[in-house]
Amino acid sequence: MIKTGNTNEFEAKKQLDIINELKARYDSELNKSGVQKTYHIETFGCQMNSRDSEKISGILKQIGYIETDTEDADFVLYNTCTVRENANNRVYGRLGYVGRLKKSRPGMLVAICGCMMQETTAVEKIKNSYPFVDIIFGTHNIFKLAELIKTRLDNEEVGRKQSDRMVIDLWKDTDMIVENLPNDRKYPFKAGVNIIFGCNNYCSYCIVPYVRGRERSRNIKDIIDEIKSLVDDGVKEVMLLGQNVNSYGKNLNPKASFAELLKEIEKIDGIKRIRFMTSHPKDLSQELIDVMGASKKICKHLHLPMQSGSTRLLKIMNRKYTKESYLDLVRRIKNAVPDISLTTDIIVGFPGETEEDFLETLDVVRKVGFDSAFTFLYSKRTGTPAANMDNQIEDDVAKDRFDRLLSEIQDSSARAAGRDEHKVLEVLVEEVNSQNEALLTGRLSNNMLVHFEGDKSLIGEIIPVYLQESKGFYYIGRQL
Ligand code: 5AD
Ligand code: SF4
Repeated sequence: MIKTGNTNEFEAKKQLDIINELKARYDSELNKSGVQKTYHIETFGCQMNSRDSEKISGILKQIGYIETDTEDADFVLYNTCTVRENANNRVYGRLGYVGRLKKSRPGMLVAICGCMMQETTAVEKIKNSYPFVDIIFGTHNIFKLAELIKTRLDNEEVGRKQSDRMVIDLWKDTDMIVENLPNDRKYPFKAGVNIIFGCNNYCSYCIVPYVRGRERSRNIKDIIDEIKSLVDDGVKEVMLLGQNVNSYGKNLNPKASFAELLKEIEKIDGIKRIRFMTSHPKDLSQELIDVMGASKKICKHLHLPMQSGSTRLLKIMNRKYTKESYLDLVRRIKNAVPDISLTTDIIVGFPGETEEDFLETLDVVRKVGFDSAFTFLYSKRTGTPAANMDNQIEDDVAKDRFDRLLSEIQDSSARAAGRDEHKVLEVLVEEVNSQNEALLTGRLSNNMLVHFEGDKSLIGEIIPVYLQESKGFYYIGRQL
């Protein structure tokens, strides 16, 4: 049966027409000037943003821009993140810089999009302090980029004053998914594939549900068709992306599950590796664990954000699992996939966190034996329930816990490192090593890096490598 979501074909057609119209305009300018226009994208934040930037890149290339690696470009775009305060501050720093650059580059366009733009206060600040910005859009309407560029150029052509040229298009939420627009990807042999957008979980510290909107899943058929065409294009590894991949399919009619989707992807000839990110412990089903256990293609890595080891705090965080159920989940996963590598996200200094709560977190870290973890100091996000809690933690207490947690994680990583020393394992060769050109760098199924001597014609291949020596975060290997 065909599963239906909210795919909008009419919008896709309209946008493709605008892309073609702009392309004709840019081609004729190129014929006159002989100089191709350049673009540069600065991406902040998570894998979802990186994937969005690839889509933006696809549209810009189709219009006729070529990519350049500095902000000295005809079109500069900042794809922003707002999950923590420091991500916002970095963007303002970059905007100050690009504003000065723009003064000496007539015709340059500056655009800003992403999660931060879904917040009214950030947009007001940009309108007031960075009036040279040309285009502002959000997380829900990336597919409209060509239309926004066209509007901005038209504003100039009809002679609007500088202050009225800024184009702002922000949507609060959407249930629309626009398929089949131009696309781009960083590596020819691996690709990110969105499967679900948005998040319905409302963890009490997190701004994501407010800036990325309600959960909406892509149709299974659209995902499978995209992966098949990626395979035809040389892709061997896919990373399925969603704020909570385990919620996949809940809003489809009829409903589908993430485990079901994985089984369908597994059947695609030519796909060698399947990764996914991120999993919410409350939704990770036994069915999924069984599928992972039986699979030949699902990679042996699971990112399972725990946030805190204290059941008391998890409740206030609205995570909907306990310390015990998290540990039980880990036990069942390790049973099904014994050589799995587990990684996590942990927040320290959440409002009201006591020393006892924190010790529970350290206890879980010790019991699970994570391969690595992202650790975050709690950051107050306006609009979230936690921001209004009156028991915020002193900076020095939070910092002290952060350092102790980091040291516990380092011990855990050190214990996990070297587990596969002297084994022969398959490596997807990704690139020439950035520090030493004689070496290639690739990844094991469990996501660990391997550096080894080899010819760069191997890039994109999956080959067996002998893991000669563990260096903690990577192995030195030998090609067989
Ligand atoms: N403060 C600190 N860390 C946060 N995260 C999300 N919101 C906050 C916040 N307000 C972390 C969580 C999440 C990761 C992507 O970012 O650990 O899993
Ligand atoms: Fe944020 Fe929680 Fe949604 Fe993750 S699951 S994006 S932490 S609200």
